[in-house]
Amino acid sequence: IKKIAVLTSGGDSPGMNAAIRAVVRSCTYHQLECLGVYRGYQGLIEGDFVTLNARSVKNIINRGGTFLKSARSKEFLSVEGRKRAFDNLKAEGIDALVTIGGDGTFAGAVVFNEEHNFPIVGLPGTIDNDINGTDFTIGYDTALNTVVEAIDKIRDTAHSHNRLFLVEVMGRDAGDIALNAGIGAGAEEILIPEQNMGKDRLVASLKRSKEAGKSSSIVVVAEGDQIGKNIFGLADYIRENLTEYEVKVTVLGHIQRGGAPSCYDRVLASRLGVGAVDALLKGERDIMVGIVNNKVTSVPFTETSKGENELDKELIRVADITSV
Ligand code: F6P
Repeated sequence: IKKIAVLTSGGDSPGMNAAIRAVVRSCTYHQLECLGVYRGYQGLIEGDFVTLNARSVKNIINRGGTFLKSARSKEFLSVEGRKRAFDNLKAEGIDALVTIGGDGTFAGAVVFNEEHNFPIVGLPGTIDNDINGTDFTIGYDTALNTVVEAIDKIRDTAHSHNRLFLVEVMGRDAGDIALNAGIGAGAEEILIPEQNMGKDRLVASLKRSKEAGKSSSIVVVAEGDQIGKNIFGLADYIRENLTEYEVKVTVLGHIQRGGAPSCYDRVLASRLGVGAVDALLKGERDIMVGIVNNKVTSVPFTETSKGENELDKELIRVADITSV
């Protein structure tokens, strides 16, 4: 391998820049050429490349987003689109690709490799933490901190006005952000897709906390939770059935995707970026490099999809006990 290209694809996440930087600098270290691809797979199809060297990635370790930009490419879903991408890779003399993204990115890589037999190594970059084969994804820790900081602020005003706040957080079909940020922010209730709580149990539980002397409440709602999917409808239901509280809704939205990466995410991204180039040099391909028990490891792309998310019973218990 002499020339590696790197791209970011799917939803951006804080730490993607740090990961690109680590890939580029690993290439410099190993005397490999490195190209960046703009806008993920779409840039591959359009031949939108940029030559990168160690200095091209200065002053980005601290920056959120991805300077290579990202996209969810529809064209890459087609055989023709992938063929164009392959032709561009060949025309540029690129020997291998590092793709930073989530499971959609890895699914694309698998099909691409099947059709064109091209070495690809992936890195998990998503705030959702919904990837198998890694304990943490790049950007997740930063998103948790963003959510906790936001809820701390909401708590101030909730407390001043004796209000109940429903706070919707991202995570797609996974409840990791909701559960962990909910515990960290001291939420009264946490609604996650992995556990169907039901409206009535929620109301009953909020009633109990009111009776136990709480004057305000925070309910963290994962966007993928069944009843949370209509958070404004849920707020109406609570208003009708729990008249003791004034109910407000805050949807945190895309602020969770931005901001300077936490130190944890910068270090994780740096370790995985170095790991990706190491893996390619060892001849590995069709794998994602992740972190398991604080060790950099690799797992086949085909095993990175989470499927049904498991409920973390220990965390649920902690959330229950600490919110009495
Ligand atoms: O996968 C990251 C994520 O932010 C999810 O949490 C969310 O469901 C989705 O992307 C939002 O996507 P978009 O930015 O395309 O609206």
